[in-house]
Amino acid sequence: MKDKKTYKPCDLVIFGALGDLSRRKLLISLYRLENANLIEPDTHIVGIDRHVMDTAEFVETARLSLQEFSSETTQDAVWARFSARLSYVKIDLTQLDEYQILNKVTNNKTRVLVNYFAVSPFLFKNICQGLAKCGVLTKESRMVMEKPIGHDLESSIEINNVVASVFNEDQVFRIDHYLGKETVLNLLALRFANSIFTTNWNHNTIDHIQITVAEEVGIEGRWDYFDKTGQLRDMLQNHLLQILTFIAMEPPVNLEAKSIHSEKIKVLKALRPITSNNVDEKTVRGQYTSGYIKGQSVPGYLEEEGANTLSSTESFVALRVDIDNWRWAGVPFYLRTGKRLMGKRTEIVVYFKQLPHNIFKDSFRDLPPNKLIIHLQPNEGVEIEMLNKIPGIDEHIKLQKTRLDLSFSDAFKKNRIFGGYEKLVLEAMRGNPTLFLSREEIEQAWTWIDSIQDAWKHYNESPKAYPAGTWGPIASVALLARDGRAWEE
Ligand code: BG6
Repeated sequence: MKDKKTYKPCDLVIFGALGDLSRRKLLISLYRLENANLIEPDTHIVGIDRHVMDTAEFVETARLSLQEFSSETTQDAVWARFSARLSYVKIDLTQLDEYQILNKVTNNKTRVLVNYFAVSPFLFKNICQGLAKCGVLTKESRMVMEKPIGHDLESSIEINNVVASVFNEDQVFRIDHYLGKETVLNLLALRFANSIFTTNWNHNTIDHIQITVAEEVGIEGRWDYFDKTGQLRDMLQNHLLQILTFIAMEPPVNLEAKSIHSEKIKVLKALRPITSNNVDEKTVRGQYTSGYIKGQSVPGYLEEEGANTLSSTESFVALRVDIDNWRWAGVPFYLRTGKRLMGKRTEIVVYFKQLPHNIFKDSFRDLPPNKLIIHLQPNEGVEIEMLNKIPGIDEHIKLQKTRLDLSFSDAFKKNRIFGGYEKLVLEAMRGNPTLFLSREEIEQAWTWIDSIQDAWKHYNESPKAYPAGTWGPIASVALLARDGRAWEE
C-alpha cells in the first residue's frame, strides 16, 4: 500500500454533490480525513449538481450536513482548511456542453481527476459522454461508483459497458462500503498471518460457518428503491457475498488488487447454484410485520410510508450456501440478513468440529464445539469460545465454556477505527484498487443471485411474516434445524 501522504493531489469531483450520499457520507468522511491530516494539501473538492448555487452556499450546505449527520463538533482550524478546498459549479448532467466548465475548475496536469458518481446509474451514460466530450480525462483519471450496480446481470453489464466506453477497468473504483470496514480487512490478517487459523481453515476442522448481518432499521423512507430491490439484492448480493469471499478464499500470492480479486472470483465461481430444484430447502424469505424495537412500537413493512400493501418484497433472507471446491467440501455456510431485527449485529461465527470422543461426561453429555466469533459491528473484535476447567479442588474435573475476548477498541486504544467510507474515499484518491470490486466479481455475483431470484419467481410464494424486533421468521430456524444446527443468538 502507498505511504500516507505520497499520492498525487486530486481534483475530487462529486457528481450529485447535493444528494443524500454526498451529504450523509462523502462530505463527512472527507472532513474526517482532513481532521486526521490525510488529504494531500493541494487536493481540491469540486461539488457538481444541477441547482444554481455559489461556492459559499455549497460550503454552508457542507457545514449543515456535518451538523445534521455527524456526531462530532467541527474544529475551527480543520474546518477552515477543509472549506478552502471546496468549490461548486452547476452542471445539468444531461447537457453535454455544460461539462466544458470542468476545464476551468480542474487541472489535470498537476492533479489527478477523481470523478465520484454519487448519482443514480441512469445518469452514468450522460456523465461519461460529458467527461469524454469536454476533454478533461487523462489515463490517470479515475471514476468511483457504488451500488446499485444494476439489479441483475444484464443491467449490471449495461452499466459496466457504459463506464468502459470511457474508462479502462484499472481506472474504475467500484465501492462496497463493507470493504472499508476495519474488521472485514482484518479477516485477511486473521486468516493469513496467524498459523493457528491458517492451518485449521478447511473441511477437516470446520463444521460450518454462519454470517449474520442484522439491522435494526427498517427501510428509512426508501420504499421506492427498496421495494424494487429486496434484501437479497440490497444486502446479500454485495455485502454478505463480499464477507463470504474473504472468509472462503485461498491465500492470495500477495496483497495486490489483482491477486485478491482473482481469489475472490474463484470463490464466487464455486458457489453451488440455487435453482428451482433446491430453492425451498436452501432459502427463506421474510417480511416484517409491526412489532417493538427497544421498547418502541414500529410499523410493519406493508404499513411503511408510501407502501404498496400487496408487496411481496423480502426484508429478510436466509440461505444455506455450499462452496464446491476442495477446501470447503461438506462445510455449509449459512447467511442471513434482515431489516427490523432484534438488534444491529454483523458477525461471522466459525463452528469447529466436535471432538470424536468425550471424556468429560460429568460436565457435558456432548462437548460443545469451539467457536471463533468475529464481530464486525458494533464493538469490533474477535472472541474464541472454548472449554476450561472450573478452578477448584473437587475430585472431578468440571468444565465450563469461556470466551477469550479481543476487543479492538481495548486492544488498540490509541488507534482510531475509521468508518468504511473514510477508508474507501482515501484509497480512491490514493489510486489503490485493492478494496474495490472488479467488473468480473460483480457480474459473477449477479449470475449466482439471478438464479435465486428466478427460482423465487417460479414458485411465486409470499415471504414468511416475522414481527419486527425478532430474529426473523421461524422458517429461518428450521433451515438450520434440518441440518441439526442452530443460529448463534
Ligand atoms: C446499504 C443498504 O448498502 O447498507 C442499506 O442499501 C443498509 O439498506 C446499509 O441499511 C447497511 O450498512 P451498515 O454499514 O449500516 O451495516
